[in-house]
Amino acid sequence: MSNAAVLGIDIGGSGIKGAPVDLEKGDFAADRLRIPTPTPSTPQAVADVVAEIADAFADKIGDGPIGVTIPAVVTHGVTRSAANIDKSWIDATAEKIFSDRLGRRVHLVNDADAAGIAEVKYGAAKGHPGFVLVTTLGTGIGSALIYRGVLVPNSELGHLEIDGHDAETQAAASIKTNLGLSYSEYVVRLQRYYERVEALFWPDLFVVGGGISKDAEKFLPRLDLKTPIVPAALKNRAGIIGAAWLAADAATHPDPLG
Ligand code: BGC
Repeated sequence: MSNAAVLGIDIGGSGIKGAPVDLEKGDFAADRLRIPTPTPSTPQAVADVVAEIADAFADKIGDGPIGVTIPAVVTHGVTRSAANIDKSWIDATAEKIFSDRLGRRVHLVNDADAAGIAEVKYGAAKGHPGFVLVTTLGTGIGSALIYRGVLVPNSELGHLEIDGHDAETQAAASIKTNLGLSYSEYVVRLQRYYERVEALFWPDLFVVGGGISKDAEKFLPRLDLKTPIVPAALKNRAGIIGAAWLAADAATHPDPLG
């Protein structure tokens, strides 16, 4: 890996954010740039914004790969789902669309996988020797499974069916906001969710990210679980840092399945 910083870009529903990442430190090497997400947010329209961000940091990132997150399942560069994004992402050859648009290698990953690996490499679960299960509570629920430092991608535990419902429609942070729930009311939903995930996966540690994790003291201590559960440490930097880490890792360990 060269000394140049690796660009990480986090595609969200309202903003697309990018920064060069110093992978030795696990932190931004320059201030982050945010550009509003275009409407409609098709892969081509988003690729234009990703290109704009890459151009803005051209002098900092050399010619290395760029890591980009998307809130969707990504298998071998193809986006496979679109729970909370434009439906045109389903089965889009998104990594190729981005790479062709930018004229350089882009590595596309699930947003929660990026945030999760960042927490294990640099954040709340740094150097954890066992099984870390990271969840992000936001518009939906994202998840990342990391065992002994290795990510098993696309776990999608926000879509576990619990009590006949898609779990994220009951327990995502957006549900708390949309229904005007108090923390006491929301905790009941989180308890149901995490006890189910715990019973199926038995991690050594839960890490909880997403914007709401800044208020973690209002809900995490009220959960009754067997597994330790801690807030994420990297806050809204996790996706960008994890995307950069995964892009650098993919450059040295290319995907044998394409
Ligand atoms: C999507 C996941 C994503 C999560 C968080 C879910 O609705 O299916 O792919 O990681 O939201 O954005």
